[in-house]
Amino acid sequence: MAEYWNINPEHESAVRDFFTSVPEADVVLDFEIGEKDFVNSGKGSAEVKNTLKRLGIGPETLRRIAVASYEAEINVTAHSQGGRMDSYLYDEFILIRFTDKGPGIADIEQAMVPGFSTADDLVREMGFGAGLGLPNILKNSDALHIVSAQGESTRVEIMIFYGN
Ligand SMILES: Nc1ncnc2c1ncn2[C@@H]1O[C@H](COP(=O)(O)OP(=O)(O)OP(=O)(O)O)[C@@H](O)[C@H]1O
Ligand SMILES: [Mg+2]
Repeated sequence: MAEYWNINPEHESAVRDFFTSVPEADVVLDFEIGEKDFVNSGKGSAEVKNTLKRLGIGPETLRRIAVASYEAEINVTAHSQGGRMDSYLYDEFILIRFTDKGPGIADIEQAMVPGFSTADDLVREMGFGAGLGLPNILKNSDALHIVSAQGESTRVEIMIFYGN
């Protein structure tokens, strides 16, 4: 089991309180994500972005959510055997959880390094595999939590507070 945490210090106590006892969300959106399904992958992220836009969330926050969730959704498609995306909307932030079945990530610190990629030829032909998705998720999120069991599964949780 490998685990990784990164929390924006500005929101540290709110994030810790939240994960200590996770409250029920106001809105939940869930999507299936298929293995190597590059035709549909990205639809979940787009739907979440549109929902938040309708709710009046500002453009910079929408951009951060769109970028982080798209990269994580594509990662499930590109690197796992499929999984799901569950988004939980709260008053002050969104939590987006990706869970998949697959090879897992043995060394998460290494996977976070810009340029590191294990993408296969098909994934590269689709235009992915620069090794910039996880660094982009990190840059655009207020909390990033990754738990992975090698050869079994990966869970990526992204929290983004609604700034502007
Ligand atoms: N859901 C996942 N399951 C298994 N491995 C993953 C998963 N997500 C990421 N990885 C591993 O972490 C590496 C780095 O991911 P990252 O998103 O940064 O780059 P990439 O997907 O290879 O390329 P890019 O995102 O730039 O198209 C991947 O190449 C893969 O080895
Ligand atoms: Mg990626």
